[in-house]
Amino acid sequence: MKILVTGGAGFIGSALVRFLIEETDAVVVNVDALTYAAAPGALAAVEGDRRYRLEKANICDGSALRRIFTAHAPDAVVHLAAESHVDRSIDGPAAFVQTNVLGTCTLLEAALE
Ligand SMILES: NC(=O)c1ccc[n+]([C@@H]2O[C@H](COP(=O)([O-])OP(=O)(O)OC[C@H]3O[C@@H](n4cnc5c(N)ncnc54)[C@H](O)[C@@H]3O)[C@@H](O)[C@H]2O)c1
Repeated sequence: MKILVTGGAGFIGSALVRFLIEETDAVVVNVDALTYAAAPGALAAVEGDRRYRLEKANICDGSALRRIFTAHAPDAVVHLAAESHVDRSIDGPAAFVQTNVLGTCTLLEAALE
């Protein structure tokens, strides 16, 4: 099974990616923009695994998502890419709407296609 995980370099996503690679036979495609919130070091244990692939992309970028879906044809998607730091939403709410609402919609449309 091939699973596309968005936000796989984040707190929750990196734990899921490690679990999928270390405890299952799944192939994992990690779609992450590697923002300030990413912790790439949390993926060190899986980086060299032939079943793991990082696609650095923004979920708001529809053409990038369509390329990734076409290239990898995943069986399932786990969507964890998000602006998650609530304190930042007070100073800059637009980024939250962009990623959490529009980005999620863009991802859903790419998956539907
Ligand atoms: N951390 C928790 O305790 C917790 C609890 C309940 C629910 N959640 C939810 O789980 C999800 C993930 O939370 P987290 O704590 O892992 O977040 P996080 O901030 O640690 O990680 C988010 C990841 O998403 C990536 N990202 C952000 N914007 C992106 C974009 N536009 N395109 C592609 N990648 C992007 C970042 O680079 C980062 O790697 C969120 O929806 C959060 O609300 C988290």
